[in-house]
Amino acid sequence: MFDFSGQVALITGSSRGIGLAAARALGQQGAEVVLNGRDAAQLDAAAASLRDEGIAAHVACFDIAEVDKAIEAVERVRDKLGKIDVFFANAGIQHREPLLSFPLHDFERVVFTNLTAQWALARHIAAAMVAQEYGRIVFTGSITAILGRKDITAYTAAKAAMHGLVRQWSAEFADSGVTVNAIAPGYIKTELTKKLWDDQSFNTWLQGRTPQERWGDPEDIASAVVFLAARESRFVTGQILAVDGGLSSTM
Ligand SMILES: NC(=O)c1ccc[n+]([C@@H]2O[C@H](COP(=O)([O-])OP(=O)(O)OC[C@H]3O[C@@H](n4cnc5c(N)ncnc54)[C@H](OP(=O)(O)O)[C@@H]3O)[C@@H](O)[C@H]2O)c1
Repeated sequence: MFDFSGQVALITGSSRGIGLAAARALGQQGAEVVLNGRDAAQLDAAAASLRDEGIAAHVACFDIAEVDKAIEAVERVRDKLGKIDVFFANAGIQHREPLLSFPLHDFERVVFTNLTAQWALARHIAAAMVAQEYGRIVFTGSITAILGRKDITAYTAAKAAMHGLVRQWSAEFADSGVTVNAIAPGYIKTELTKKLWDDQSFNTWLQGRTPQERWGDPEDIASAVVFLAARESRFVTGQILAVDGGLSSTM
């Protein structure tokens, strides 16, 4: 089970963090993986580290928020590798600021990157998946779409909309061989959350609040992505899988 041999997986935001861990996990199961990010040097280093582990890794350096250029880059991937079977729409950004002083510009920037650009890019990729009658789309949502938290109003709005989008797309693609799901990570130790894991009071709160009493690792998310991206998971669609050490199911 979960053999990805012969499959091509494109993972946005995979030069580090959750995306890189997911790319490694998919590659370990036999997928040819395409890494993405905006920093070419970091991307090349990440791909080289996967190749050293025996994984067939390529890079596609683009900014998902520059949608037209991103679509052109995706087309170059398809020209080179022939198809895309798995799309893990994972790139995302954060801006933390209290609601009453949150600049509209930052609201629009975060919502555009975390939602609108994802929608446009995934829709483009989905069209080819429908034509080939097979595809697995996995988005990265968040438990902050389920539970409120201060200072992250744009991020929450985008991720909550993404959870809705997953359910709606699963209806659009129900009879096409394409499944659409999301993972909703809890607190995962990555660069995105560095400010938080450097904050002792936050650490104490989080470990008390999370039943498993720890931060998640990117690898905790990667295994869930492999499950949702697998051919065998064909009857799973429209689902939001929380991977959070129990945080969102307890109080
Ligand atoms: N860490 C958590 O606790 C947590 C919890 C819930 C959800 N998430 C979600 O998980 C996803 C991955 O986050 P992470 O924690 O792994 O963060 P991370 O370590 O900061 O990694 C983010 C990745 O996305 C890339 N990226 C950012 N903006 C991009 C853009 N506009 N175009 C292309 N690539 C872009 C980054 O590379 P460049 O900067 O070089 O572009 C990097 O590879 C995000 O969607 C995030 O919202 C994370």
